Amino acid sequence: MKKLLTSSCALVALLAASLAAAQTAPAQTAPAAGTQAPAPASTQAAANRPSDYVVGPTDVLKVTVYDSEENVCRIAGQNIKAHGLSDRVFTRIGNFLTDPFPTGIDAILFCHIFTIWSMERNLEILRKCWWTLPTGGAVILFNMMSADDDSGPLSTALGSPYFLAIATGEGMLHRWTDYERAMREAGFSRTERAEGLPLNHGVLVAFKD
Ligand SMILES: C[S@@+](CC[C@H](N)C(=O)[O-])C[C@H]1O[C@@H](n2cnc3c(N)ncnc32)[C@H](O)[C@@H]1O
Repeated sequence: MKKLLTSSCALVALLAASLAAAQTAPAQTAPAAGTQAPAPASTQAAANRPSDYVVGPTDVLKVTVYDSEENVCRIAGQNIKAHGLSDRVFTRIGNFLTDPFPTGIDAILFCHIFTIWSMERNLEILRKCWWTLPTGGAVILFNMMSADDDSGPLSTALGSPYFLAIATGEGMLHRWTDYERAMREAGFSRTERAEGLPLNHGVLVAFKD
């Protein structure tokens, strides 16, 4: 079983779709007592890759949606109930910056969070993630990414003034390489990129080996 802490309510809908797909997938032969279920082909090929965190027919994923706003958690709770996921998806009101993260989690997914703050503040959060996660755990960032050579994309040049001048006065669309440097500085031993997602988004995973 994997336990994921996430900033994304949208993940609840994604999970519902994944679980529905899993339920309609062909049944697999149960492993003999005392043996481990075979890993999906993708995870056999690449243990601890992002695919480890995708719900498959034999996996059980528990997710906690974490947000500082009571309203966000309340609406997420309504969606969780509507999708019949109350036994796998939970909510927790908390502040990334000041509260401890829940314990017993395997991965932490930040959706559109690390653009809000400066890299110094992101580094503080990454350090907190490293201390919270077990060996083998991972932190996952999902948001727009700027090119390493500052050549674009244009949307990141347009988005950065919003974060810097309006939202918080310190955020921006940071470069991949700046996140990777902060992840290593926080103690993570290895990072992996998934580039080329729609709307100039990317996924960056840091592993605690
Ligand atoms: C830009 S929105 C992203 C929402 C969602 N994750 C998504 O991808 O659409 C930022 C979210 O982070 C929450 N947030 C901001 N600061 C926070 C903090 N210090 N601790 C926890 N949540 C925070 C806000 O309440 C808001 O829901």
